[in-house]
Amino acid sequence: MLAPPCTADQLIRYRWWVGHQAAFGLWRVLAETLTTITQSPSPSPASLAAAARMFDCSTLLYLYTGSCTTAQYNQQLRPAMRDCHPAFSGEWARDFTPLPALVQKARHEFPGERTASLMEASRRSVRVHMAVADELVPEGLSLLQASGHRPGGQPPRHLQALYDSFFLVDRDRVCRQSVTMQLVRRLTQIACDLTHRDPGAPAPRPPALPPACRPDHEGRTDRVLTGIAERPVDVLWNTARHLAKGHDPVVPAAEPSERQPGHEQEPSL
Ligand code: HEM
Repeated sequence: MLAPPCTADQLIRYRWWVGHQAAFGLWRVLAETLTTITQSPSPSPASLAAAARMFDCSTLLYLYTGSCTTAQYNQQLRPAMRDCHPAFSGEWARDFTPLPALVQKARHEFPGERTASLMEASRRSVRVHMAVADELVPEGLSLLQASGHRPGGQPPRHLQALYDSFFLVDRDRVCRQSVTMQLVRRLTQIACDLTHRDPGAPAPRPPALPPACRPDHEGRTDRVLTGIAERPVDVLWNTARHLAKGHDPVVPAAEPSERQPGHEQEPSL
């Protein structure tokens, strides 16, 4: 059940959908952790480390989700999103929306060495997202900009709902453990994709650093980023292990109206 599909075309779609679904759950838990950090008079090193770890997992999910070639993206994924809405954009991902303000608040409340790794992990994630977007859309404008919109701003609810439905997300009232279970399941699916291949099945592209993130000609490199790209399964297991064992700080219970991603839904492949 956790094995990836066999054909190359199916796998591209699978990675785009499962990768996004995993990111939604991860961003949700990350937002809760950052909220705990910003509300604490003195955040614990464990909570700061947990948030940094989740940003690095988010970085990996950008690489995994966007691991198709530019041609495959433009033949298969971009048209599907454009058919859904001409200005289709990641800005409509509601689980991501609170993150930038929470990071800014954490930096403001706790400047300096204590939050340095967290801020670095957050910046790394932003950088990798833009590098993936640049690699997949090397020339021309994003769908958002090509439709006459500028990035930034709060998207209307109906576009957030459209985005959810494109990624087969059904939101409902569930407990925190259910969110964790769904997230761990998707991280496990991704780890299976990266480690398991039926004999004879075509070898897919591994998640790799986009050109803009590779070591520059003077040999400068972000070692953590290189490690994320070279050992993706370690990043996935490390995140899943902490989530499943409840090592990460206890997060306050969600509001009853809060929703969660991927409830009983599978990508249609
Ligand atoms: C796994 C998650 C994500 C992946 C793989 C991803 C990848 C991409 C790609 C490939 C593009 C180019 C889109 C096009 O074809 O026109 C893009 C653009 C963009 N993404 Fe994401 N994205 C993700 C999540 C997000 C999120 C959560 C946000 C929230 C801020 C976001 C904001 C944007 C924006 C604003 C653009 C347009 C940039 C511009 O107009 O220059 N993305 N992203």
